[in-house]
Amino acid sequence: MKDFKEYGIEIAREAGIFLKNKLHSAHTIDYKGEINLVTEVDKISEKMITSKINALFPDHDILAEEFTDINSGSDFRWIIDPLDGTTNYAHGYPFFSVSIALERLDTVIVGIVYDPMLDEMFVAEKGKGAFLNDREIHVSNTRRIIKSLLTTGFPYDIQKDSDNNLNYFNEMILKAQAIRRAGSAALDLAYVAAGRFDGYWELKLSPWDIAAGWLLVEEAGGIVTDMGGNDYYLESPSILASNGRIHKEMMDVLKGASSI
Ligand code: IPD
Ligand code: CA
Ligand code: CA
Repeated sequence: MKDFKEYGIEIAREAGIFLKNKLHSAHTIDYKGEINLVTEVDKISEKMITSKINALFPDHDILAEEFTDINSGSDFRWIIDPLDGTTNYAHGYPFFSVSIALERLDTVIVGIVYDPMLDEMFVAEKGKGAFLNDREIHVSNTRRIIKSLLTTGFPYDIQKDSDNNLNYFNEMILKAQAIRRAGSAALDLAYVAAGRFDGYWELKLSPWDIAAGWLLVEEAGGIVTDMGGNDYYLESPSILASNGRIHKEMMDVLKGASSI
């Protein structure tokens, strides 16, 4: 019989292929905020994923971004972003993912991030390492920020709230080799796990953006905290993930950023 991880992989792949096939179709776009959009595809993907999990594991809880919050007190909870990178997706920019995590008793035990465009399946299991298409992955060895490729993102309320990461970005961009704003938090974390990015920080994310990628980074040998260096938890107001070697230097740069 397949285990949770194998079912998760199958479900993520199916949803990802659906997203890939629909990328260049016309989309119905609704707005959750001025720049926070959602397409019909986000919703269909969520329905595809949650109905399969529900059929396989009817007693498990599920939290997914668009409309699913089943909270019955089960030991197990699936945390799902059915399309991470929806702004990219709506513009036909092919960088997005499906993120599926499984929590048991408040600990993430499986993390899956799938990029259907490159057919890259990132998978981590608690205590068993992190893998990309079945090959074990590790964070990078880079020791200094000036040699690092970093990634970050900006919150959807960037125009309304000055706590919008621009102060941290302005400081970090002068210290790093380069910074990308790739547009999918789940893939940002998966890329830190794979050693493609050396570090990542962001504010105001939600559990579905982070749950799977968090486990990927830790299982690949990296460190995940909040921006102040405190232990990370799913509702943390910020995240700092790195290869571990540049973590303290990143924290110091963030601390030195002008207050807002
Ligand atoms: C967003 C992406 C983006 C991050 C945003 C997230 P969505 O998720 O992960 O990289 O900067 O803050 O909300 O809306 O595309 O699922
Ligand atoms: Ca997201
Ligand atoms: Ca999403």
